[in-house]
Amino acid sequence: KVSFQQRHFLTLKDFSSEEVKSLLWVAADLKYRFKDRNERYTPLAGRSAGLIFEKRSTRTRVSTETGVALLGGHPCFLSPSDIHLGVNESSKDTAKVLSGFVDIVLARVYRHNDLEVLAREGSIPVVNGLSELYHPLQALADFLTLREHYKSLKGLTLAWVGDGNNIIHSLMMTAPKLGVNIRCATPKGYECDPTVYSDAVDLAEQHGTTMYCTTDPMDACKDANVLVTDTWISMGQEEEKNERLRAFQGYQITKKMAAVASPDWCFLHCLPRKPEEVDDEVFYSRQSLVWQEAENRKWTVMAVMLCLLKDHQPILDRPSF
Ligand code: CP
Ligand code: NVA
Repeated sequence: KVSFQQRHFLTLKDFSSEEVKSLLWVAADLKYRFKDRNERYTPLAGRSAGLIFEKRSTRTRVSTETGVALLGGHPCFLSPSDIHLGVNESSKDTAKVLSGFVDIVLARVYRHNDLEVLAREGSIPVVNGLSELYHPLQALADFLTLREHYKSLKGLTLAWVGDGNNIIHSLMMTAPKLGVNIRCATPKGYECDPTVYSDAVDLAEQHGTTMYCTTDPMDACKDANVLVTDTWISMGQEEEKNERLRAFQGYQITKKMAAVASPDWCFLHCLPRKPEEVDDEVFYSRQSLVWQEAENRKWTVMAVMLCLLKDHQPILDRPSF
């Protein structure tokens, strides 16, 4: 039996294949209980969660606030214009103070290192709600969506066409553990972080999957089952807009690109989406799973918040992966 109690959830790099599968199982179980069985289930009654957001958010904020509340807990939204963090108080002191008030903290930060400080200096679990390096909650939702869609993940190939950013980093830390291969196209100068990439190569080797990189989007999409992209201009990069729009020419996902993919291809995007990275024809197509993917952010964050605070025994049979 896997226990996650009191662990931090900063990157899926820290979670084994069995642990990732357990979290996906709990997420599927919560979806079944709340959505299919309309159950009332409040294991987090009396618990509270602090939600620090240094950047904007629709999905992460709303899925976590409503998800914690559904589980009976109390979510407490802490925006940087309300709390002292970063203005009058350090991450270290904030971590120590919040540890006396709430049971768990989720934080969306500019610098991944700030999450590590919160984790180190506080005495409660810290969840990464997005940093410049990783977005582990998004990767969990993506693989839950793909499991629902394909029934089995082993042997699928995922093609990334876009920036070598937080989203692909988290997919790379997870895919090999689920038997999923990666083909990654990034423009020159916008490759993945070299340390993350080297970890991804090791993971792929360990799990017998492939990790292929190219600068040619068509090459990445060839025979792939899953086409994935993200904005070319992440939060905090607004000043690089013109330069990035130029660098990513030819990277828009279109039906022409999808024509070289596997006949059973589907499309994922963490959202928010801009039309430059994927045209309307693909984004609103039958193959696009983006709304299911967005909803799954809720069941997956609920699974993470619950498992870090309490052991949970699913009533749903363990899905095959
Ligand atoms: N995908 C995602 O994290 O969306 P938000 O920025 O709206 O939270
Ligand atoms: N790469 C994007 C993801 C947003 C959910 C960003 O960091 O802004």
